[in-house]
Parts: sequence; structure tokens; C-alpha cells
Amino acid sequence: MIQPKQLEDRVISIEELTDEIYRMTVESEYIAGNAVAGQFVNIKCCDGTQALLRRPISICSVDRCNGSYDILFQKKGGGTGLLALKKPGDRLDVLGPLGNGFGLDVKYGRIAVIGGGIGIFPLLFVLNESRAVTKRAYLGFRTRKLVVLENEFKAGSSTLEITTDDGSYGEHGFITDLLKRDILSEKFDMIYACGPTPMLRKVIEAANENDIRCQVSMEQRMGCGFGACLVCACKTHVENGDWQYSHVCKDGPIFDSRAVLLE
Ligand SMILES: Cc1cc2nc3c(=O)[nH]c(=O)nc-3n(C[C@H](O)[C@H](O)[C@H](O)COP(=O)(O)OP(=O)(O)OC[C@H]3O[C@@H](n4cnc5c(N)ncnc54)[C@H](O)[C@@H]3O)c2cc1C
Ligand code: FES
Repeated sequence: MIQPKQLEDRVISIEELTDEIYRMTVESEYIAGNAVAGQFVNIKCCDGTQALLRRPISICSVDRCNGSYDILFQKKGGGTGLLALKKPGDRLDVLGPLGNGFGLDVKYGRIAVIGGGIGIFPLLFVLNESRAVTKRAYLGFRTRKLVVLENEFKAGSSTLEITTDDGSYGEHGFITDLLKRDILSEKFDMIYACGPTPMLRKVIEAANENDIRCQVSMEQRMGCGFGACLVCACKTHVENGDWQYSHVCKDGPIFDSRAVLLE
């Protein structure tokens, strides 16, 4: 895996796509040229003391020809609120690319990506980089106004299914139900998942029960982003039924579904 660097890159553009969800395009030959799907950047959101710790955001897509990458983020609190105020031309202090990334072996000919809410963002990178023949995308949102990147996911996949919890767009219900409907007939070689913990739990159960390989992207609050501060510890299975602490930033954020221990 390539060494992460501290970079001072230029914001090319920033736009609000929907309710408090922003897309930022950042100029960076280093990240565009080296990042793999599932990696993230750790961003210093301001020069002052309002948000001291960097904030981790997944790389959503890269433009290797033009040397830029996209991140999408939801304005949640202080850090992402300050990030949303950035303007084209501003410098962005970024540490990256960080984390291990998804395994995209060419032997995975039939894949599914399943994401919930802001967890969908790293999965677009998976679709764009995977050489699979069949790529089925399953995206779940709470409600219609939070649906983003529909066209991008449609272009990157063989089929796209969307659900909303309240039925205001796509099918009514949880996206995991559609994955469960298809999981046996589709014979996926690999499932890639990212989203809220209850969603991940259902995906992992379905994959493990049907003996289908699955990689999940885990979220934890972070500090340093590279294994030095121990803020991001999570439990993972080890052999003989035991468990250990792993670091989401360094050992992850991508884990094999059989290793993940969700509490
Ligand atoms: C590897 C990784 C990749 C991520 N990728 C993205 C992305 O692509 N787009 C995106 O919008 N967000 C992403 N996040 C989440 C993002 O980092 C947090 O939303 C952000 O740090 C919140 O900072 P804040 O200062 O705006 O909010 P804060 O004021 O710090 O927190 C606001 C609320 O968000 C919750 N929160 C903060 N950090 C996290 C976290 N890591 N996991 C779960 N809840 C959290 C807090 O508990 C609080 O309720 C990612 C997180 C990780 C660990
Ligand atoms: S964020 Fe510091 S060890 Fe993971």
C-alpha cells in the first residue's frame, strides 16, 4: 500500500447536491494516482481551534487523467460544517490516502455493492475500479431527499436497486431485504458493504449464512487516522473463537465479514 502523505491540495469545486450533502472535487495527483477503493482522507477542517482533530472522509471517485478526486460528505457537526464553507481555490490540508481498501480481485466476476445513506460513497469507487462482468448495486436511504448519486451508480453498475425507509422513492423498505431476495440466485463472488451498523449486521448475517464472501467498511470516531492514537479500536475475531482489538484506521476500514464482531 502506498505511503500516506500530508498534502496541501486545492479545492476545485464544491456543491450542495441535496439536503446538507456536499460534493467536493480536490486537485491531487498523489491521491488520484495512488488511492484504491475503500481508502479515505483525514482532513483538517480549519486552521483555528474549532475542530482540532482531522475528520475522516472516504474517497468517492478519482479522475486519474486530470489528477483530482471527489469526496462527498454530510454536514453533521463542527468539522463537516467548516468543510462545507470551503470555496474553489482554497487549500485543503489532507492526510492520505489512508486505510487498507477493498480487495478487488479480477476473479470476482459477479459482485454486489450494498450501501446505506452516506455509506454509499466509497462503493462508487468500487464499481468504477472493479472488472467484474456483473455488478449489482443496492442503495438504501431514509427518504427521497437524501437520495444522491443515482445517475453515477446507474452508469457504474449492471443493475441498480434503491429503497427508502418511508417509501418516498424507489421500493419501500430496507435495502437488505432486496439483497436477501437475490443472494442465492445471483451467486455473488463478493459483496461489498458500507453503511450504518444495523444494516451491516444484516448484510453480514446474510453473507455468512449463505457462505458468500463479503467485505465491510467499518466506521469509528478517529483521531490520528494512521494507528498512533488508539481512538478507533474495534473488536475482531481471531482463530479459536477468541477476539482482539483492531484499528479501523490502519487494519481497516475494510474487514472481511467473518472477522467483524459487531456489538
Ligand atoms: C473511514 C471513515 C470514512 C468516512 N467517510 C465519510 C464520507 O465519505 N462522508 C461522510 O459524510 N462521512 C464520512 N465519515 C463520517 C465522518 O467522518 C463524520 O461524520 C465526521 O467526522 C463528523 O465530524 P463533525 O465535526 O462534522 O461532527 P461531530 O461534531 O464530530 O459529530 C456529529 C455527530 O456525528 C457523529 N459522528 C462523528 N464521527 C463519526 C464517525 N466516524 N462515525 C459515526 N458517527 C460519527 C457524532 O457522534 C455526532 O453525533 C467517515 C468516517 C470514517 C471513520
Ligand atoms: S485513529 Fe488513531 S489509531 Fe486509529
